[in-house]
Amino acid sequence: MVTADQAIQTADPSNIVIFGAAGDLSKRKLIPALVRMMCCGLVHSDSRILGVLRNRSRQEWLDQLRAGLQEFSPHIEMDDDKWQRFSSCLKIVDGDLDDETMYQRLAESLETLGGTKNAMFYCAIPPAWYGKVAKGLRNAGLVHEDEGYRRLVIEKPFGSDLETASALNTELQAVFDENQIYRIDHYLGKESVQNLLVYRFANSIMEPLWNRNYIDHIQISASETLGIEYRAKYYDHSGALRDMIQSHLMQMMTLVAMEPPVEFTADAVRDEKMKVLRAVRRFEPEQIKKQTVSAQYASGTINNEQVSAYVAEENVSPDSATETFAAVRFYIDNWRWQGVPFILWSGKRMKSKVSEVMIRFRKPPFNLFDSHASVPAANALVFRLQPEGGIVLRLNAKKPGLTTDNEEMVMHAPYAADAEEVADAYEILMHDVLTGDRTLFSRSDEIEESWSIVEPILDAWKDRVSIERYRAGTWDIPDMDELTSDCVGGWHKPSIYD
Ligand code: BG6
Repeated sequence: MVTADQAIQTADPSNIVIFGAAGDLSKRKLIPALVRMMCCGLVHSDSRILGVLRNRSRQEWLDQLRAGLQEFSPHIEMDDDKWQRFSSCLKIVDGDLDDETMYQRLAESLETLGGTKNAMFYCAIPPAWYGKVAKGLRNAGLVHEDEGYRRLVIEKPFGSDLETASALNTELQAVFDENQIYRIDHYLGKESVQNLLVYRFANSIMEPLWNRNYIDHIQISASETLGIEYRAKYYDHSGALRDMIQSHLMQMMTLVAMEPPVEFTADAVRDEKMKVLRAVRRFEPEQIKKQTVSAQYASGTINNEQVSAYVAEENVSPDSATETFAAVRFYIDNWRWQGVPFILWSGKRMKSKVSEVMIRFRKPPFNLFDSHASVPAANALVFRLQPEGGIVLRLNAKKPGLTTDNEEMVMHAPYAADAEEVADAYEILMHDVLTGDRTLFSRSDEIEESWSIVEPILDAWKDRVSIERYRAGTWDIPDMDELTSDCVGGWHKPSIYD
């Protein structure tokens, strides 16, 4: 949890308007984050939360939120007094998103409530509605920042390819200034992801090693044990490439590869990330087969439970060829990274849930201890992002005894001893919206550039009728060994403690 004693700025009072206030994202993420932020004074006590919803009374909404807190955030202590204090800030505006009068009523509510004119509009709704909501807000006179700020928050997916992403950007920018738009990539809100920047730019030992002269390759991965849950309608048109690689993992790649920004401000950081994306080598159609891997989970066992195949999930067609695992081998053609493969991969229903960045260094140039010893392994530096954040350094050390045989020594430094100290991504990101810090939000040009990079892969995969399978709960991905065959150490399958 972010705490006020961390000398973090308490945001000015604001009207926090949530479209889709009765939906899943609100219950699971937004309301728990706001509860914690209010409790520790990060959200000003004069702020209000206005839920836009349909066919529900305020009391029904409150009951639903409280039940959601118990179910999804049982660690948040919530007695009746605390709930009374929090819920007194909650108001509702009843109506449909395509009803112009709803936006008028919202404007009237904000007027009659008095107090601050600041407003954050959080779209916790399907992306198809973003443009309509923006126009509704404009027509109700809620976009101009004459007396207070007006900020629009949207969630991924930002389009499903380059064309739809730039159409969405154009639609939103016709209403809001780019500086008023906050595109959330929740990976950037994870403390352990931001810590990557601190490890890189607050430690002088990293920089001399951080380039093609010392690094063999980099693997950035997110493996999950979950399947697609209730999201088949979205996922079956998305797949792992769109869902994880184009967004979260490419964002992490930019943080790992970027040059030090001139200052830690939103545009200085995003300019450097953008330069990385511009330097990513474009794929020629004939290279795609060699530079990518895709596969889909078959049935299997995870944590001793039998799980069904992707094609047997509810609302998935039995002949779907959507990938639930994707890997792409990128190259960044610039002075620092020329020739270093960046292998990004992500899969559902894998053996364990681990996200990490592994930097594999080159092998020692010469084996001095070759009489008895095995060849020393190449060093690796692993940034573990989750489940438990931390850093792992793999070095070679002498085996105790009379020989100079060596063995790998693993040094592990956890990021935080107490998981409770680590703030949830949504607390960090909402606090940033309220204080106007756009550093951790994707800019429109980053979104379009990353879509343009993956577009040739989407084109190559779109008409396929069959796909390789892997057994759920395993690392048995056909072709991953081949994709990484010339990388020192090959495919790095993360395990919980290394
Ligand atoms: C979301 C994807 O953006 O990230 C999901 O749509 C995925 O499919 C999730 O499960 C992973 O997030 P985390 O924080 O659990 O790694």
